[in-house]
Amino acid sequence: MAHPTSPRSPAPLTAARPANPLAGKIRVPGDKSISHRALMLGALAIGRTEISGLLEGEDVLATAAALGTLGATVTAVGHGRREVDGVGIGGLAEPEDLLDLGNSGTAARLLLGILATHPITAFVTGDASLRRRPMGRVVDPLSSIGARFVTREGARLPLAVSGAATPIPISYRLPVPSAQVKSAVLLAGLNTPGKTTVIEPQPTRDHTERMLRHFGAAVTTEPEEKGGRRVTVEGFPELAAAPIVVPGDPSSAAFPLVAALIVAGSDVIIEGVGINPLRTGLLECLREMGADIVLLNERDEGGEPVADIRARAGTLTGADIPAERAPRMIDEYPILAVAAACARGRTVMRGLAELRVKESDRLSAIAAGLASCGVRVAVEGDDMIIDGAGNFPAGDALIATQLDHRVAMAFLVLGLATNRPVRIDDAALIATSFPGFIGLMNGLGCAITEEG
Ligand code: S3P
Repeated sequence: MAHPTSPRSPAPLTAARPANPLAGKIRVPGDKSISHRALMLGALAIGRTEISGLLEGEDVLATAAALGTLGATVTAVGHGRREVDGVGIGGLAEPEDLLDLGNSGTAARLLLGILATHPITAFVTGDASLRRRPMGRVVDPLSSIGARFVTREGARLPLAVSGAATPIPISYRLPVPSAQVKSAVLLAGLNTPGKTTVIEPQPTRDHTERMLRHFGAAVTTEPEEKGGRRVTVEGFPELAAAPIVVPGDPSSAAFPLVAALIVAGSDVIIEGVGINPLRTGLLECLREMGADIVLLNERDEGGEPVADIRARAGTLTGADIPAERAPRMIDEYPILAVAAACARGRTVMRGLAELRVKESDRLSAIAAGLASCGVRVAVEGDDMIIDGAGNFPAGDALIATQLDHRVAMAFLVLGLATNRPVRIDDAALIATSFPGFIGLMNGLGCAITEEG
Protein backbone atom coordinates (compact mmCIF):
# COMPACT_ATOMS: atom_id res chain seq x y z
CA MET A 1 0.00 0.00 0.00
CA ALA A 2 1.26 3.48 -0.84
CA HIS A 3 1.56 5.49 2.34
CA PRO A 4 -1.46 7.84 2.31
CA THR A 5 0.58 10.97 2.96
CA SER A 6 3.61 10.15 0.81
CA PRO A 7 4.07 12.13 -2.43
CA ARG A 8 2.91 10.26 -5.55
CA SER A 9 1.95 11.06 -9.12
CA PRO A 10 -1.73 11.65 -9.81
CA ALA A 11 -3.68 8.88 -11.57
CA PRO A 12 -6.14 10.43 -14.04
CA LEU A 13 -9.04 8.35 -15.39
CA THR A 14 -11.71 8.80 -18.04
CA ALA A 15 -15.30 7.54 -18.07
CA ALA A 16 -17.32 7.36 -21.29
CA ARG A 17 -20.81 6.23 -22.20
CA PRO A 18 -20.72 2.42 -22.53
CA ALA A 19 -21.88 0.75 -25.76
CA ASN A 20 -24.25 -1.59 -23.90
CA PRO A 21 -26.44 -1.51 -20.76
CA LEU A 22 -24.83 -2.42 -17.44
CA ALA A 23 -25.67 -5.89 -16.20
CA GLY A 24 -24.58 -8.31 -13.51
CA LYS A 25 -24.54 -9.31 -9.87
CA ILE A 26 -21.81 -7.81 -7.69
CA ARG A 27 -20.69 -7.35 -4.09
CA VAL A 28 -19.18 -4.11 -2.87
CA PRO A 29 -16.45 -3.95 -0.20
CA GLY A 30 -17.29 -3.94 3.50
CA ASP A 31 -18.83 -0.99 5.29
CA LYS A 32 -16.19 1.58 6.20
CA SER A 33 -17.88 2.84 9.37
CA ILE A 34 -18.46 -0.68 10.70
CA SER A 35 -14.94 -1.81 9.75
CA HIS A 36 -13.29 0.99 11.76
CA ARG A 37 -15.48 0.25 14.75
CA ALA A 38 -14.92 -3.52 14.58
CA LEU A 39 -11.15 -3.02 14.78
CA MET A 40 -11.39 -0.43 17.55
CA LEU A 41 -13.80 -2.36 19.76
CA GLY A 42 -11.86 -5.55 19.07
CA ALA A 43 -8.75 -3.76 20.35
CA LEU A 44 -10.58 -2.73 23.54
CA ALA A 45 -12.22 -6.09 24.21
CA ILE A 46 -10.88 -8.99 26.20
CA GLY A 47 -10.12 -11.96 23.96
CA ARG A 48 -9.87 -12.48 20.21
CA THR A 49 -12.37 -10.81 17.88
CA GLU A 50 -12.80 -12.46 14.47
CA ILE A 51 -13.83 -10.04 11.74
CA SER A 52 -14.93 -11.05 8.25
CA GLY A 53 -15.95 -8.81 5.35
CA LEU A 54 -13.64 -6.05 6.60
CA LEU A 55 -13.05 -3.20 4.16
CA GLU A 56 -9.40 -3.39 3.16
CA GLY A 57 -9.34 0.23 2.08
CA GLU A 58 -6.56 2.61 3.09
CA ASP A 59 -8.74 4.38 5.70
CA VAL A 60 -9.40 1.16 7.59
CA LEU A 61 -5.83 -0.07 7.19
CA ALA A 62 -4.73 3.21 8.82
CA THR A 63 -6.93 2.39 11.83
CA ALA A 64 -5.50 -1.13 12.02
CA ALA A 65 -1.94 0.22 11.90
CA ALA A 66 -2.66 2.82 14.59
CA LEU A 67 -4.18 0.20 16.89
CA GLY A 68 -1.08 -1.94 16.38
CA THR A 69 1.11 1.02 17.37
CA LEU A 70 -1.07 1.37 20.49
CA GLY A 71 -0.43 -2.23 21.55
CA ALA A 72 -3.33 -4.27 20.16
CA THR A 73 -2.56 -7.17 17.82
CA VAL A 74 -4.34 -7.16 14.47
CA THR A 75 -3.57 -10.21 12.32
CA ALA A 76 -4.62 -10.68 8.69
CA VAL A 77 -5.97 -14.22 8.26
CA GLY A 78 -7.37 -14.00 4.72
CA HIS A 79 -9.13 -11.58 2.40
CA GLY A 80 -11.28 -9.25 4.52
CA ARG A 81 -10.52 -11.33 7.60
CA ARG A 82 -8.73 -10.13 10.70
CA GLU A 83 -8.20 -11.44 14.20
CA VAL A 84 -7.87 -8.74 16.82
CA ASP A 85 -6.39 -9.57 20.20
CA GLY A 86 -7.70 -6.87 22.49
CA VAL A 87 -5.95 -5.25 25.43
CA GLY A 88 -9.08 -4.47 27.47
CA ILE A 89 -10.59 -1.07 28.21
CA GLY A 90 -7.91 1.38 29.28
CA GLY A 91 -5.15 -1.02 28.19
CA LEU A 92 -3.67 0.79 25.19
CA ALA A 93 0.01 1.76 25.44
CA GLU A 94 1.67 5.06 24.58
CA PRO A 95 2.69 5.04 20.90
CA GLU A 96 6.38 5.58 20.18
CA ASP A 97 5.70 7.44 16.97
CA LEU A 98 3.11 9.62 15.24
CA LEU A 99 -0.29 8.07 14.50
CA ASP A 100 -0.89 8.83 10.80
CA LEU A 101 -4.53 8.36 9.90
CA GLY A 102 -4.19 9.21 6.22
CA ASN A 103 -7.43 10.51 4.70
CA SER A 104 -9.76 9.19 7.43
CA GLY A 105 -11.82 11.56 9.56
CA THR A 106 -13.56 8.61 11.22
CA ALA A 107 -10.26 7.02 12.25
CA ALA A 108 -8.97 10.32 13.64
CA ARG A 109 -12.06 11.37 15.57
CA LEU A 110 -12.99 7.96 16.99
CA LEU A 111 -9.41 7.22 18.05
CA LEU A 112 -9.18 10.61 19.74
CA GLY A 113 -12.24 9.57 21.74
CA ILE A 114 -10.52 6.37 22.84
CA LEU A 115 -7.23 8.14 23.59
CA ALA A 116 -9.00 10.84 25.62
CA THR A 117 -9.46 8.44 28.55
CA HIS A 118 -6.12 6.65 28.35
CA PRO A 119 -3.46 8.32 30.54
CA ILE A 120 -0.96 8.44 27.67
CA THR A 121 0.21 11.04 25.15
CA ALA A 122 -0.14 10.59 21.39
CA PHE A 123 0.61 12.71 18.33
CA VAL A 124 -1.93 12.44 15.54
CA THR A 125 -1.73 13.55 11.90
CA GLY A 126 -3.11 12.75 8.46
CA ASP A 127 -2.92 13.67 4.79
CA ALA A 128 -3.44 17.17 3.38
CA SER A 129 -7.24 16.68 3.30
CA LEU A 130 -7.47 15.44 6.90
CA ARG A 131 -5.13 18.17 8.15
CA ARG A 132 -7.62 20.75 6.82
CA ARG A 133 -10.64 19.23 8.62
CA PRO A 134 -11.98 20.60 11.93
CA MET A 135 -11.13 18.62 15.05
CA GLY A 136 -12.62 21.18 17.46
CA ARG A 137 -15.89 19.25 17.32
CA VAL A 138 -14.21 16.38 19.24
CA VAL A 139 -11.56 18.40 21.09
CA ASP A 140 -14.30 20.41 22.88
CA PRO A 141 -16.28 17.56 24.48
CA LEU A 142 -13.19 15.42 25.08
CA SER A 143 -11.56 18.35 26.91
CA SER A 144 -14.58 18.50 29.27
CA ILE A 145 -13.97 14.83 30.04
CA GLY A 146 -10.44 15.84 31.10
CA ALA A 147 -8.22 15.21 28.06
CA ARG A 148 -5.68 17.87 27.09
CA PHE A 149 -4.93 18.86 23.50
CA VAL A 150 -2.39 20.97 21.68
CA THR A 151 -3.58 21.63 18.14
CA ARG A 152 -2.73 23.79 15.18
CA GLU A 153 -4.73 26.95 14.50
CA GLY A 154 -8.44 26.15 14.15
CA ALA A 155 -8.07 22.83 16.04
CA ARG A 156 -6.47 21.22 13.00
CA LEU A 157 -4.11 18.22 12.85
CA PRO A 158 -1.35 17.52 13.64
CA LEU A 159 -2.32 17.58 17.30
CA ALA A 160 -1.11 16.15 20.57
CA VAL A 161 -3.52 14.52 23.00
CA SER A 162 -2.86 13.60 26.63
CA GLY A 163 -5.68 11.47 27.92
CA ALA A 164 -7.33 12.05 31.28
CA ALA A 165 -6.05 9.98 34.21
CA THR A 166 -9.28 10.64 36.13
CA PRO A 167 -11.97 11.19 33.48
CA ILE A 168 -15.22 12.96 34.30
CA PRO A 169 -18.48 11.66 32.80
CA ILE A 170 -20.32 14.25 30.71
CA SER A 171 -23.69 14.78 29.13
CA TYR A 172 -23.06 16.40 25.76
CA ARG A 173 -25.51 17.88 23.27
CA LEU A 174 -24.11 17.65 19.74
CA PRO A 175 -23.93 21.08 18.08
CA VAL A 176 -23.84 19.38 14.64
CA PRO A 177 -25.38 16.04 13.69
CA SER A 178 -22.25 13.87 13.57
CA ALA A 179 -21.88 10.16 14.22
CA GLN A 180 -18.15 10.66 14.53
CA VAL A 181 -18.50 13.12 17.40
CA LYS A 182 -21.19 11.01 19.09
CA SER A 183 -18.95 7.96 18.78
CA ALA A 184 -15.84 9.77 20.06
CA VAL A 185 -17.67 10.77 23.25
CA LEU A 186 -19.23 7.32 23.77
CA LEU A 187 -15.87 5.61 23.26
CA ALA A 188 -14.27 8.00 25.76
CA GLY A 189 -17.09 7.03 28.15
CA LEU A 190 -15.95 3.40 28.15
CA ASN A 191 -12.99 4.17 30.44
CA THR A 192 -14.89 6.77 32.51
CA PRO A 193 -16.77 6.03 35.74
CA GLY A 194 -20.55 6.44 35.67
CA LYS A 195 -22.71 7.39 32.72
CA THR A 196 -21.59 9.30 29.65
CA THR A 197 -24.45 10.71 27.57
CA VAL A 198 -24.72 12.19 24.10
CA ILE A 199 -27.85 14.02 23.02
CA GLU A 200 -28.25 14.22 19.27
CA PRO A 201 -30.83 16.61 17.83
CA GLN A 202 -31.13 14.41 14.71
CA PRO A 203 -30.36 10.68 14.75
CA THR A 204 -27.07 9.76 13.04
CA ARG A 205 -25.72 6.32 12.13
CA ASP A 206 -25.80 4.08 15.21
CA HIS A 207 -23.12 1.50 14.38
CA THR A 208 -21.13 2.35 17.52
CA GLU A 209 -24.13 1.77 19.79
CA ARG A 210 -25.07 -1.48 18.04
CA MET A 211 -21.54 -2.84 18.18
CA LEU A 212 -20.99 -1.82 21.80
CA ARG A 213 -24.10 -3.81 22.72
CA HIS A 214 -22.84 -6.71 20.59
CA PHE A 215 -19.67 -6.71 22.76
CA GLY A 216 -21.72 -6.63 25.96
CA ALA A 217 -21.70 -2.95 26.97
CA ALA A 218 -24.77 -1.32 28.50
CA VAL A 219 -25.91 1.34 26.02
CA THR A 220 -29.35 2.88 26.17
CA THR A 221 -31.06 5.00 23.52
CA GLU A 222 -34.06 7.11 24.49
CA PRO A 223 -36.15 9.45 22.36
CA GLU A 224 -35.65 13.19 22.82
CA GLU A 225 -37.93 16.03 21.79
CA LYS A 226 -38.31 16.76 18.05
CA GLY A 227 -37.05 13.37 16.91
CA GLY A 228 -33.67 13.56 18.67
CA ARG A 229 -32.04 10.84 20.74
CA ARG A 230 -30.26 10.52 24.06
CA VAL A 231 -27.59 7.82 24.03
CA THR A 232 -25.92 6.71 27.28
CA VAL A 233 -23.05 4.35 27.88
CA GLU A 234 -22.21 2.92 31.29
CA GLY A 235 -18.48 3.17 32.10
CA PHE A 236 -16.11 0.22 32.64
CA PRO A 237 -18.17 -2.46 30.86
CA GLU A 238 -16.71 -5.92 30.34
CA LEU A 239 -16.20 -5.84 26.58
CA ALA A 240 -16.06 -9.47 25.50
CA ALA A 241 -14.62 -10.33 22.08
CA ALA A 242 -17.40 -11.21 19.63
CA PRO A 243 -17.36 -12.20 15.96
CA ILE A 244 -18.25 -9.46 13.48
CA VAL A 245 -19.55 -9.90 9.93
CA VAL A 246 -19.21 -6.57 8.11
CA PRO A 247 -21.97 -5.96 5.54
CA GLY A 248 -21.37 -4.32 2.15
CA ASP A 249 -21.11 -0.54 2.39
CA PRO A 250 -24.30 1.23 1.26
CA SER A 251 -22.20 4.35 0.58
CA SER A 252 -20.09 2.32 -1.88
CA ALA A 253 -23.09 0.48 -3.34
CA ALA A 254 -24.50 3.92 -4.19
CA PHE A 255 -22.09 4.28 -7.15
CA PRO A 256 -22.97 1.13 -9.15
CA LEU A 257 -26.59 1.67 -8.08
CA VAL A 258 -26.85 5.14 -9.65
CA ALA A 259 -24.79 3.97 -12.65
CA ALA A 260 -27.44 1.29 -13.26
CA LEU A 261 -30.22 3.89 -13.02
CA ILE A 262 -28.71 6.32 -15.55
CA VAL A 263 -27.28 3.98 -18.22
CA ALA A 264 -30.30 3.07 -20.38
CA GLY A 265 -31.45 -0.55 -20.23
CA SER A 266 -29.27 -1.52 -17.24
CA ASP A 267 -30.20 -4.15 -14.65
CA VAL A 268 -27.80 -4.68 -11.73
CA ILE A 269 -28.00 -6.56 -8.42
CA ILE A 270 -25.72 -5.61 -5.53
CA GLU A 271 -25.62 -8.35 -2.93
CA GLY A 272 -25.25 -8.14 0.84
CA VAL A 273 -25.58 -4.37 1.31
CA GLY A 274 -26.18 -2.85 4.75
CA ILE A 275 -29.62 -1.22 4.96
CA ASN A 276 -29.43 0.26 8.46
CA PRO A 277 -32.33 2.77 8.43
CA LEU A 278 -29.90 5.53 9.45
CA ARG A 279 -28.01 4.97 6.16
CA THR A 280 -30.83 4.63 3.63
CA GLY A 281 -31.69 8.26 2.89
CA LEU A 282 -30.33 7.92 -0.67
CA LEU A 283 -32.66 5.01 -1.48
CA GLU A 284 -35.60 7.13 -0.32
CA CYS A 285 -34.53 10.07 -2.51
CA LEU A 286 -33.97 7.92 -5.59
CA ARG A 287 -37.35 6.26 -5.17
CA GLU A 288 -38.99 9.69 -4.89
CA MET A 289 -37.24 10.50 -8.16
CA GLY A 290 -38.94 7.48 -9.74
CA ALA A 291 -36.06 4.99 -9.59
CA ASP A 292 -36.78 1.28 -9.95
CA ILE A 293 -35.05 -0.11 -6.85
CA VAL A 294 -36.08 -3.34 -5.14
CA LEU A 295 -34.73 -4.83 -1.91
CA LEU A 296 -34.45 -8.62 -2.05
CA ASN A 297 -33.65 -11.23 0.57
CA GLU A 298 -33.75 -8.86 3.56
CA ARG A 299 -32.00 -10.36 6.59
CA ASP A 300 -30.06 -9.58 9.74
CA GLU A 301 -26.30 -10.18 9.89
CA GLY A 302 -24.40 -9.58 13.12
CA GLY A 303 -26.86 -6.98 14.45
CA GLU A 304 -27.14 -5.01 11.20
CA PRO A 305 -29.93 -5.31 8.59
CA VAL A 306 -28.74 -6.41 5.13
CA ALA A 307 -30.36 -6.93 1.69
CA ASP A 308 -29.58 -7.47 -1.98
CA ILE A 309 -30.46 -4.38 -4.00
CA ARG A 310 -31.74 -4.58 -7.58
CA ALA A 311 -31.62 -1.40 -9.66
CA ARG A 312 -32.99 -1.00 -13.18
CA ALA A 313 -32.58 2.00 -15.44
CA GLY A 314 -35.50 4.32 -16.11
CA THR A 315 -36.54 7.93 -16.22
CA LEU A 316 -35.71 10.01 -13.15
CA THR A 317 -37.45 13.23 -12.17
CA GLY A 318 -36.25 16.03 -9.88
CA ALA A 319 -37.14 15.99 -6.17
CA ASP A 320 -37.05 18.21 -3.11
CA ILE A 321 -34.69 16.65 -0.56
CA PRO A 322 -35.35 17.88 2.99
CA ALA A 323 -32.51 18.95 5.31
CA GLU A 324 -33.73 16.48 7.99
CA ARG A 325 -32.68 13.61 5.74
CA ALA A 326 -29.04 14.75 5.53
CA PRO A 327 -27.63 12.72 8.46
CA ARG A 328 -29.04 9.51 6.93
CA MET A 329 -27.28 10.07 3.61
CA ILE A 330 -24.47 12.49 4.40
CA ASP A 331 -21.91 10.71 2.20
CA GLU A 332 -24.30 10.21 -0.71
CA TYR A 333 -24.78 13.80 -1.93
CA PRO A 334 -22.06 13.63 -4.62
CA ILE A 335 -23.75 10.65 -6.28
CA LEU A 336 -27.27 11.99 -5.67
CA ALA A 337 -26.18 15.16 -7.47
CA VAL A 338 -25.13 13.00 -10.43
CA ALA A 339 -28.57 11.33 -10.48
CA ALA A 340 -30.18 14.79 -10.30
CA ALA A 341 -28.05 16.00 -13.22
CA CYS A 342 -29.43 13.14 -15.34
CA ALA A 343 -33.04 13.62 -14.16
CA ARG A 344 -35.79 15.72 -15.69
CA GLY A 345 -36.60 18.84 -13.67
CA ARG A 346 -35.34 20.59 -10.58
CA THR A 347 -33.76 18.86 -7.58
CA VAL A 348 -33.25 20.91 -4.45
CA MET A 349 -30.96 19.42 -1.80
CA ARG A 350 -31.33 21.36 1.42
CA GLY A 351 -29.21 21.83 4.54
CA LEU A 352 -25.80 20.76 3.23
CA ALA A 353 -23.52 22.80 5.54
CA GLU A 354 -21.71 19.66 6.74
CA LEU A 355 -20.60 18.90 3.17
CA ARG A 356 -18.16 21.80 3.41
CA VAL A 357 -16.03 19.91 5.99
CA LYS A 358 -15.83 16.46 4.40
CA GLU A 359 -12.75 15.03 2.60
CA SER A 360 -13.10 18.17 0.44
CA ASP A 361 -15.54 21.07 0.44
CA ARG A 362 -18.02 18.84 -1.35
CA LEU A 363 -20.57 21.55 -1.89
CA SER A 364 -18.19 23.55 -4.07
CA ALA A 365 -16.48 20.48 -5.58
CA ILE A 366 -19.83 19.07 -6.77
CA ALA A 367 -21.11 22.42 -8.04
CA ALA A 368 -17.88 23.21 -9.93
CA GLY A 369 -17.70 19.71 -11.41
CA LEU A 370 -21.33 19.67 -12.57
CA ALA A 371 -21.06 23.16 -14.05
CA SER A 372 -17.99 22.14 -16.05
CA CYS A 373 -20.00 19.21 -17.44
CA GLY A 374 -22.66 21.62 -18.69
CA VAL A 375 -25.20 20.98 -15.91
CA ARG A 376 -27.26 23.91 -14.55
CA VAL A 377 -26.39 24.08 -10.87
CA ALA A 378 -26.51 26.75 -8.17
CA VAL A 379 -25.57 26.92 -4.48
CA GLU A 380 -27.79 29.18 -2.37
CA GLY A 381 -26.66 29.31 1.25
CA ASP A 382 -26.45 25.66 2.31
CA ASP A 383 -28.75 24.39 -0.45
CA MET A 384 -27.84 23.04 -3.86
CA ILE A 385 -30.20 23.38 -6.81
CA ILE A 386 -29.73 21.24 -9.91
CA ASP A 387 -31.84 21.66 -13.05
CA GLY A 388 -31.75 18.39 -14.94
CA ALA A 389 -32.62 18.61 -18.63
CA GLY A 390 -33.79 15.01 -18.77
CA ASN A 391 -31.20 14.16 -21.42
CA PHE A 392 -27.47 13.53 -21.46
CA PRO A 393 -25.33 16.32 -19.95
CA ALA A 394 -22.49 17.56 -22.19
CA GLY A 395 -19.50 16.20 -20.22
CA ASP A 396 -16.14 16.90 -21.89
CA ALA A 397 -14.60 18.14 -18.62
CA LEU A 398 -11.64 17.55 -16.33
CA ILE A 399 -12.80 17.27 -12.70
CA ALA A 400 -10.65 18.40 -9.76
CA THR A 401 -11.22 15.64 -7.18
CA GLN A 402 -9.42 17.47 -4.33
CA LEU A 403 -8.26 14.32 -2.49
CA ASP A 404 -11.92 13.23 -2.24
CA HIS A 405 -12.72 9.60 -3.11
CA ARG A 406 -16.46 10.17 -3.39
CA VAL A 407 -16.10 13.16 -5.72
CA ALA A 408 -13.82 10.98 -7.89
CA MET A 409 -16.28 8.06 -8.05
CA ALA A 410 -19.37 10.25 -8.52
CA PHE A 411 -17.92 12.03 -11.57
CA LEU A 412 -16.75 8.76 -13.13
CA VAL A 413 -20.37 7.60 -12.85
CA LEU A 414 -21.58 10.84 -14.45
CA GLY A 415 -19.20 10.20 -17.37
CA LEU A 416 -21.18 7.01 -18.13
CA ALA A 417 -24.15 9.15 -19.13
CA THR A 418 -22.64 12.29 -20.70
CA ASN A 419 -22.35 13.09 -24.43
CA ARG A 420 -18.58 13.42 -24.22
CA PRO A 421 -16.32 11.63 -21.71
CA VAL A 422 -15.57 12.96 -18.21
CA ARG A 423 -11.99 12.86 -16.95
CA ILE A 424 -10.96 13.04 -13.30
CA ASP A 425 -7.55 14.36 -12.29
CA ASP A 426 -6.75 11.67 -9.72
CA ALA A 427 -8.29 8.29 -8.96
CA ALA A 428 -5.78 7.22 -6.30
CA LEU A 429 -7.93 8.23 -3.33
CA ILE A 430 -10.70 5.83 -4.41
CA ALA A 431 -8.66 3.14 -2.62
CA THR A 432 -9.44 4.77 0.72
CA SER A 433 -13.00 3.41 0.66
CA PHE A 434 -13.52 1.30 -2.48
CA PRO A 435 -10.53 -0.79 -3.54
CA GLY A 436 -11.33 -2.55 -6.83
CA PHE A 437 -13.88 0.09 -7.89
CA ILE A 438 -12.72 0.34 -11.51
CA GLY A 439 -12.57 -3.43 -12.09
CA LEU A 440 -15.97 -3.95 -10.50
CA MET A 441 -17.60 -1.17 -12.52
CA ASN A 442 -15.99 -2.27 -15.79
CA GLY A 443 -17.12 -5.83 -15.01
CA LEU A 444 -20.70 -4.51 -15.18
CA GLY A 445 -19.96 -3.00 -18.61
CA CYS A 446 -18.72 0.49 -17.70
CA ALA A 447 -16.11 2.20 -19.86
CA ILE A 448 -13.65 3.61 -17.33
CA THR A 449 -10.11 3.78 -18.71
CA GLU A 450 -6.74 5.44 -18.27
CA GLU A 451 -6.89 6.98 -21.76
CA GLY A 452 -7.44 10.71 -22.03
C1 S3P B 1 -19.01 8.47 9.71
C2 S3P B 1 -19.80 9.55 9.95
C3 S3P B 1 -20.01 10.62 8.98
C4 S3P B 1 -19.60 10.21 7.57
C5 S3P B 1 -18.28 9.49 7.55
C6 S3P B 1 -18.34 8.24 8.41
C7 S3P B 1 -18.82 7.48 10.78
O1 S3P B 1 -19.24 11.74 9.36
O2 S3P B 1 -19.52 11.33 6.72
O3 S3P B 1 -17.92 9.11 6.22
O4 S3P B 1 -18.29 6.37 10.50
O5 S3P B 1 -19.20 7.76 11.92
P1 S3P B 1 -19.80 12.85 10.40
O6 S3P B 1 -20.00 12.18 11.69
O7 S3P B 1 -18.72 13.88 10.47
O8 S3P B 1 -21.06 13.35 9.78
